[in-house]
Amino acid sequence: MIKLQNIEKVYRTSSIETLALNNVNIHIRKGEFVSIMGPSGCGKSTLLNIMGLLDEPSKGTVEIAGSTVDKYQDKALARLRNEKLGFIFQSFHLISDLSVLDNVEIPLLYRKGSARERRELAQEALEKVGLSNRMKHFPKELSGGQKQRVAIARAIVGKPEIILADEPTGNLDSAMGNEILSILQNLNKEGATIVMVTHDEAMAKRTHRLIRLFDGTQVTDSVLSTNLATGV
Ligand SMILES: Nc1ncnc2c1ncn2[C@@H]1O[C@H](COP(=O)(O)OP(=O)(O)O)[C@@H](O)[C@H]1O
Ligand SMILES: [Mg+2]
Repeated sequence: MIKLQNIEKVYRTSSIETLALNNVNIHIRKGEFVSIMGPSGCGKSTLLNIMGLLDEPSKGTVEIAGSTVDKYQDKALARLRNEKLGFIFQSFHLISDLSVLDNVEIPLLYRKGSARERRELAQEALEKVGLSNRMKHFPKELSGGQKQRVAIARAIVGKPEIILADEPTGNLDSAMGNEILSILQNLNKEGATIVMVTHDEAMAKRTHRLIRLFDGTQVTDSVLSTNLATGV
């Protein structure tokens, strides 16, 4: 589902060069729920952004849902990102002057479909995260856990095959974090492939597989559960 081969990422600024990822090889299969851990600055977000086609590697190849990604300016790339991938971030990234419902509809604005279809899909996504009763609210009227649930609804509204989450529970207390993880587990059971960066060992233990990064390289890759929702 996601295949990274010999990935290297160098960030260059006028004075310094940072090797953020060094020879990373990862193959994530359909239906897996994978967690990524490692100290701050070790390259976790860079790795997730490369998987999510938000950033391009300096070297190496990326394959997403059967397509090899080689042209990073391409319109097809934006489409691949919009149709196959859903993103969730630590700080939610909601638009403050849009209602919950309008925030969730955003990814659908780049697709064909009527306003009514968009509304129905957004309502369906909000039901999945248990927020049907907050559709007309604005982000500032919600708790952190509720904001993250809106962000999850926005990530899944277009029914992506892959969900990428960068420390989705990092800004939440443990009760809210547990709730978010249960939602992700349910989405995984329904077939979504999920990659989640986390600082929390307890959260990582609830996934199928744990990859640890150190200084831009994967140091361990361990199977925690072979109980995959779907096949290879
Ligand atoms: N846009 C950027 N420009 C320059 N350096 C960056 C940029 N993004 C990340 N880095 C550097 O790359 C390394 C990895 O960063 P990051 O992937 O954000 O780590 P993590 O998410 O594990 O904390 C760090 O040393 C960071 O300072
Ligand atoms: Mg990070």
